Parts: sequence; C-alpha cells; structure tokens
Amino acid sequence: MERGYRSYLVRVWRRRPPPAAPIHVLVEEIQSGRQAELRGRAAADVAAPVEGALAGTGAGAAAGRVHGDAGGGGRMILVVGATGSVGGRIARGLLGRGHQVRVLVRPGSAYGPLLEAGAEAAQGDLRDPASLAAACRGVETLVTTAISLGRAAPDTVETVELDGYRSLFEAARSAGVRHVVYTSMLEADTRSPVPFVAAKAVTEQRLRDSGLAWTILAPDVFMDVWLTAVVAGPALSGGDVWYVGSGRRRHSFVHGADVAAFAVAAVDDPAAIGRRLAIGGPEALTLHDVVGVFGSLLGRTIAEHGVQPGEPVPGLPPLMAGMLGMLDASESVLPMEELAAEFGVRLTSVREWAQSLVPVGTR
Ligand SMILES: NC(=O)c1ccc[n+]([C@@H]2O[C@H](COP(=O)([O-])OP(=O)(O)OC[C@H]3O[C@@H](n4cnc5c(N)ncnc54)[C@H](OP(=O)(O)O)[C@@H]3O)[C@@H](O)[C@H]2O)c1
Repeated sequence: MERGYRSYLVRVWRRRPPPAAPIHVLVEEIQSGRQAELRGRAAADVAAPVEGALAGTGAGAAAGRVHGDAGGGGRMILVVGATGSVGGRIARGLLGRGHQVRVLVRPGSAYGPLLEAGAEAAQGDLRDPASLAAACRGVETLVTTAISLGRAAPDTVETVELDGYRSLFEAARSAGVRHVVYTSMLEADTRSPVPFVAAKAVTEQRLRDSGLAWTILAPDVFMDVWLTAVVAGPALSGGDVWYVGSGRRRHSFVHGADVAAFAVAAVDDPAAIGRRLAIGGPEALTLHDVVGVFGSLLGRTIAEHGVQPGEPVPGLPPLMAGMLGMLDASESVLPMEELAAEFGVRLTSVREWAQSLVPVGTR
C-alpha cells in the first residue's frame, strides 16, 4: 500500500465513527481515481489520480510548457521523495521535458512505475549519508520533497527533516550539484510548537547557508490532502464536517499537482535561484466556503461544526487537529496571478478539484 500522507489519511478515517457509508471505501475510491472514472474520465495514473479530471491544469500543463531554458538537454536531476505524491509528479514532469531523472528510492517503496516512465533508481535513504553521496554523483539539480510525516520510526523529524537533510545538502555540495529546489511549507517557522513545522524552517536556513544555489518552494495547505480529509471525505459519504474554530479564515488552498508544476519550472529557470516562492491556489477560501462548494455540487446542505482550539476534532488525530488549529489562528491569502504567469503554471481552483471528485449523476 502506498505510504505517506494518503495512506495515513485512510488509516485516520478508518478510525472515525461509522459514517453513513463506509468512509474508507470512499476514500480509497477517491484516491484510486474511481470517482474520476465514474465521470467517464480516465485518471492519469495511480500516483496522480486527480490529474485526469483536471487535464490542462497544474503539473500536467507544465510538463509540456516552455519556460526558462525549457529544454531538458539531458541534464541529470535527482528527485528525493519521488515515491511520494508531489515528488512523483515532479519526476514525471521532468522526464516529460527531456531531463534525465534519477530517483532516490528505498527497498519496499513503489518505484517501479517511475522506472517504467524512464527514471533511473539510486537505492538510498536520507538516514544513510553514504547512499546520498552516491546518489548525488553527476547530478546538476537536486529536487527534494521528502518528509517523515505519516511514517514511523526510524523516520522521524530528527532523522529525516533535520539530520537527513543536513546530510543531503552536504552530499550535494561535495558532488558539485549546481541548484537545489527544496519543498518547504508556507508556515515554516523556527518558533512553531510543532516540531515538523519548526524543522522545515531550520532546513530552509541550512540550505541558504550551504553555499549551494537554492530555490525554496513554500506552498500553502494542499487541497488534495487537507480538504480531502476535512471536507471531501465526510461530504461525499453523507457525514458532517468538523474543523477547529469558526471555519471562516481564508487560505489559498493549492493542489499538489500545481506545486509540482512550479518545481518543474524552477529546475529550468535561473530566475528561480535565490528565491522563496510562496505558492497558493488561484483564490483564498474558508473551510466554510469549501463546504459550500461541495454542498452546491451535491445539491444538499452539509452540516458543519467547529470545536474550540485545543479540543479534539472528532475522527482526527491530534497532529491533524493541531494543524487545523493553525488554520484557524491566521489567514493566508496569496496573490498568485503574477507568480503563476511568470512560471507558466495554470492553478487549479477548489471548485475544479471538487468537481473531479463528485460523480456526474449526483450533481
Ligand atoms: N500536504 C500539505 O498540505 C503540504 C503543505 C505545504 C507543503 N507540503 C510539502 O509538500 C511536500 C510533498 O509532500 P508529499 O505529499 O509528496 O509527501 P509524501 O507523499 O508523504 O512523500 C514523502 C516522500 O518522502 C520519502 N521519504 C520519507 N522518509 C525518507 C527517508 N528516510 N529517505 C528517503 N526518502 C524518504 C518517501 O519515500 P518512501 O516512499 O520510501 O517512504 C516519499 O517518497 C513535503 O515537503 C511537504 O512538507 C505539503
């Protein structure tokens, strides 16, 4: 079974109280692209189930787009995190632009489809510095999305986000890598009480101090992860939506495919070097707005409830409740028009994404 956020969410939802319909079945259907198939549209691939329904947007669009020097020109790009959701899209996007792509993979991870798509594998682990040195040999650009979240020890914030990334940047510098594209998060902050969020900021600073040319991608909250967990899953199964607070804070929810598109564009664009790119979707919406989008597509009113910050959110583990608390504590409204135009990325709206999940017959 795929590891990472998505399988983590499936496990989380399995622990929810029984909903009107078996939620894990629904979630797995969403993730396997079956909802898209129900609409008569083919899902692009297993790793990127929504792309088929969102053809013309995001990473799919960037793969064929000319930006920066645009040509792959056979340069070797190492992707760390390619067996994950965003990293897989990046690897495919880079292959689509004619780059040579090497993926750092661990035994037991599902990397076969990446090799079939044309990537070469370097066996390794962020916890194994020697493997990183080997993987970086001959590499011009390193793109990394790897995270420990959703995995178990020995993959932890300490071993992956902190020690692992330090080893990776050291290996990249020793190997003469020219450019590193690191996927952080918008809210990264060394003062955060959430260790993962603080570690992201530490790693950003380490990269800036490393002497390597860098680009930091700082995406807002992913719609295809968090809005799936909080709104789409319950809404599509006939349940109520639960969040922290009023649900009236605005955020520029972004699709992971669009973040991948920025990464692909940044690899080919010298103008991306030395910049932290804050990446959001095309509009800022509240959770209440998102509930409204699903309500209008499903033709019914969806009940929503907010718990007090610090209280448990029904069906969600403390980590997710904490992140929802962060969403309730502030707003993140990112004007994206100029940045999207500069990097040639067509951003996916929440409504487009929601439509890709709601079968035609129910609209
Ligand atoms: N979700 C959001 O709302 C959000 C918001 C802002 C930023 N982001 C960022 O977006 C990025 C992409 O996330 P994603 O959804 O693509 O994550 P994901 O699907 O969970 O993928 C994580 C990847 O990291 C790899 N990895 C984990 N531990 C490793 C280790 N010790 N050595 C080597 N590889 C290791 C995994 O490999 P295996 O398959 O071998 O485990 C997998 O390829 C992350 O940096 C995340 O912080 C996400």
